Amino acid sequence: MIKRTGRAKVLKPYFRASIISLHSLIWGKRLRGAPGSTSMALKASRYRLQNEQLWQAFNRFAQRSYIIDWRARVDSLPFEENPSFGSLLYALSVVETDTQSVYQRLCQANAYRRPPMYAFVTAWLQEELEHGRALEAMAEKYRANKCVMGRRQRSSLRSTLSGPALYAARLVSPGIESVYATVGTITEYVALRIYNRCSLLATHPAASSLLREIALQESRHMMFYRNAAIIFNQNPYAQGLARIGVPLFWRPPGVDPLGLSTWRETFAPLLTDPELIAQMLRADQIVQELPGMSSIEVMRPFLKKMGIANPASKLVAGARARGHATRLSA
Ligand SMILES: [Fe+2]
Ligand SMILES: [Fe+2]
Repeated sequence: MIKRTGRAKVLKPYFRASIISLHSLIWGKRLRGAPGSTSMALKASRYRLQNEQLWQAFNRFAQRSYIIDWRARVDSLPFEENPSFGSLLYALSVVETDTQSVYQRLCQANAYRRPPMYAFVTAWLQEELEHGRALEAMAEKYRANKCVMGRRQRSSLRSTLSGPALYAARLVSPGIESVYATVGTITEYVALRIYNRCSLLATHPAASSLLREIALQESRHMMFYRNAAIIFNQNPYAQGLARIGVPLFWRPPGVDPLGLSTWRETFAPLLTDPELIAQMLRADQIVQELPGMSSIEVMRPFLKKMGIANPASKLVAGARARGHATRLSA
C-alpha cells in the first residue's frame, strides 16, 4: 500500500503539469522553454526590482504603523442601550479577528513568500487584531446582542474548496500575489468606508474618534495593498490571473466569517444608506485603475445580486454627484 506521503509525491508532478497545461490553454504558450520567453536572469532582476519597490511601499506604511491605544477611550464610554449598533460593532470585531484565519490561509497559498510582504503582514495582523479587541470592548458598551453571531452558516462549498485551491495557488505564483493585493485593496477600502460611516452613527465623541482612527489605519492598509497590486501587475501573467481570481475570490469583508444572511442582517443599518452604497461602488473604479484590470467589476455585481441597492437608482446617483463617492479619506 502506498503511504499518503508517497502518493502525494507521485501525484505532485501530474498536478503541476495540469496547472502548466491550464496556463498554456489560457495564455496560448508554453510556460517553460517557449521561443523568445524571458530569460531566467531577466526574471531574477525583475523579481529583485519588484522587491525593492515593495520595500519602499512597506517603509512608507511602517513609518505610520502603530497599535491603537483604545482602552482609556472605551472605559470612558457610558453604557448605552443600542443593541443594533452594538451588534454591528461586535460583527466588525468578529471580522477583524478572522484576519488570523485569512493570514493562515494565505500562508498556505505562499502569498507572503517575499520578505517585504511578510514584513507588512506581520504589522498588519497586529493592527487588525487590536481593532477586533477595541470593537468588542466598545460593542459591550452598546449592549451588543452577541447571540446573532451564533447563527453563523455552515461552511459553504466555496470555503471548503478554498483550502486545496490555495495550495494549488502556490503553483501559479506570482499571480496569487496580485490576486491577494487586489482583493486586499478592495477589502480595506470597504472597511475604511464602513468605519467612517459607523463613526457618524456613534453617539459619544470617544467612540467616534476611535472609529475614525480605525478607518485611518484601514486606509493605510489599503494604500499598501494598492501599491503592491500596481507592482505585481507589471507582470502580464499576474494581471491575467488577477483578472480571473479577483472576481472569483472577492467577497465583502465579513461575509465569509459571518455567513451571508447574518452579514446582511447585521449590516442592514449601513446597507440602506445610499451614500455608503455609492462609496462602496467606488471600489470598482479603484480596481479598474490598477494595471490590466480596466474591465473588472466586483462590487456592482455583488450589490445587484444581493438586491441591496439598484446602483442606477436616483438616490445613489445623487450621492455620487454630490461627490461623496470620489473622496478617499487618506
Ligand atoms: Fe481592521
Ligand atoms: Fe485593515
